[in-house]
Amino acid sequence: MRLSILTFLLVLAALVSGACVSGSKTNDGSARKKKGPNDPIKIGFSMDTVKEERWQRDRDLVEKHAKEIGASVNVQVANGSDSEQIKQAENMLTQGVDVLIVAPHNGEIAASIVEAAHRQGVPVISYDRLIKNADVDLYISHQVVKMGEMQAQYLLDHVNKKPANFVIVGGSPTDNNALLLHQGQMNVLKPAVDRGDVKIVADEYAKEWQASAALNIVENALTRTNNQVDAVVASNDGTARGAVQALEGQHLAGKVLVSGQDGDLASLKLIVEGKQTMTIYKPIQPLAYGAVDAAAKLARGETVATTDTIDNAFKKVPAILLEPAAVDRNNLLTTIVKDGYHTIEEICAGLPPEKCPKP
Ligand code: GAL
Repeated sequence: MRLSILTFLLVLAALVSGACVSGSKTNDGSARKKKGPNDPIKIGFSMDTVKEERWQRDRDLVEKHAKEIGASVNVQVANGSDSEQIKQAENMLTQGVDVLIVAPHNGEIAASIVEAAHRQGVPVISYDRLIKNADVDLYISHQVVKMGEMQAQYLLDHVNKKPANFVIVGGSPTDNNALLLHQGQMNVLKPAVDRGDVKIVADEYAKEWQASAALNIVENALTRTNNQVDAVVASNDGTARGAVQALEGQHLAGKVLVSGQDGDLASLKLIVEGKQTMTIYKPIQPLAYGAVDAAAKLARGETVATTDTIDNAFKKVPAILLEPAAVDRNNLLTTIVKDGYHTIEEICAGLPPEKCPKP
């Protein structure tokens, strides 16, 4: 689906649902800083990582759109360290940011960032990953449970063995997204196990979403089952590439189905080669632009239209949850390429031309 249609649907859904979040008050009653309509807005963007390609895109698009709306943005990257992320956020608060956008490394520990921000009347947007047990003002992400369902369903629909041996490679257990993905994956796989169509031969989380952890999980599963693995539900593209590497070690790449998530260039190449089976495409522009627009509104005490809520164990957080899409070789051109997320030239560079999908 084109971005413009996605954006339109999002706005429409917000209007229909009539839900909203306002930046003028907090649940804990602390006073809110409020910028005037023409005051310049300072946004702090606290990121866990820019290791994966997608996060580099998030950073660039947040910076681009902030510039477009005349806001300034300070981006800090914690490189997987909770203490670093907290320190960086506190520094940004000291420097007087008007609003914080936080992509947390650890969804539980980041609650203290929300508390520190609220003590200074600064609203907090939880970005892509949910901050738990805290009075988060807004959550903006994609439909993560649905993504887990799409990964598992795709593999289930395309595996041609019964019962089929499945390996589940989760993401980082400190990232709420990894837990939501697993929930979605099991929504599909549990009934298949009960029907006798699927056997889960390994189900583990890859520390820090590391490809090397995924490689270990899949290698061990291959050893344990004497190479009898039919599908690997990898939770993102990084872990999918670790899985593919383990399969290559046993000359099984291309014979075992592998899911993914993010539309990373390196994984799209594997999809064209037939070594990774699918990815979940999450357009990042509506996420990044949506967060920046919402940040400006919250900083001014204006209302942000939301489409959903998500329970973070403290409250039902007003949420904007964007639509993901399953992408394989067959619809690569009409999704990721059509949107300009990656060009077909980039994807096919270095690959045999006959492998490249033709319009
Ligand atoms: C998730 C995110 C994914 C992926 C992963 C690793 O939270 O939703 O897109 O990048 O983290 O950073």
